[in-house]
Amino acid sequence: MRCEVKGVAGVILAGLAAGSLWTFPAHAAPPAAPPAPAAGSADLKSEGPTQPAKVQDGQYTDKNGDPTYHVTDNGKKVDWYTMSGYLRYNANCIVCHGPDGMGSTYAPSLVDALKGMDYAHFAGIIVGGKKDVNASQELVMPAFGDNRNVMCYMPDIYTYLRARSDGVVGRNRPSEHEPKPAAFEKAEDACMK
Ligand code: HEC
Repeated sequence: MRCEVKGVAGVILAGLAAGSLWTFPAHAAPPAAPPAPAAGSADLKSEGPTQPAKVQDGQYTDKNGDPTYHVTDNGKKVDWYTMSGYLRYNANCIVCHGPDGMGSTYAPSLVDALKGMDYAHFAGIIVGGKKDVNASQELVMPAFGDNRNVMCYMPDIYTYLRARSDGVVGRNRPSEHEPKPAAFEKAEDACMK
């Protein structure tokens, strides 16, 4: 079981190295020739400073290929991944990092930490954890590399926190979201198996 789960993290890290940052299991890899980016098209336009360069199966990515949010309707409507990230954040991270990524006495604000943090760096911390040896109190960010409830939703959590960090998604649950893409459900099933 444990080995199998490590395998999932391994695939994700291999994906990171290969530059396909937001695909999960190998069998859910995108086609060899992705469709031409539709930069500038109306449905790609998002509120907030980070503009998506591409959308595939309801997942938005920026010009560097990092996952990003798509927020419309005066901050009210978010893409599915932002919504999913909100839910996963609340299940796995809130206990230490506080509601809405605001931080706590134990763990830093992720609204601040995500500023300028690219997806590869973020994923490295989540998979491997982080330990501040210099702090007066020992602060430990656990490694989630063998936790599917986090590993299978890493781009989602990153996307949500990025939207929080960019100030485009407020505190509390987003009120509306784009539909859950069929591709998301398929990748989720494959990853959680
Ligand atoms: C058991 C408590 C705990 C949980 C649960 C936890 N973290 Fe952390 N996290 C920490 C601590 C403590 C630090 C600071 C470690 C340090 O300073 O070295 C940290 C650091 C981080 C950092 C680096 C921040 C920076 O400034 O470099 C990121 C990113 C992060 N956590 C994301 C997450 C995410 C996403 C989740 C949920 C999947 C999560 N954490 C769950 C305690 C936790």
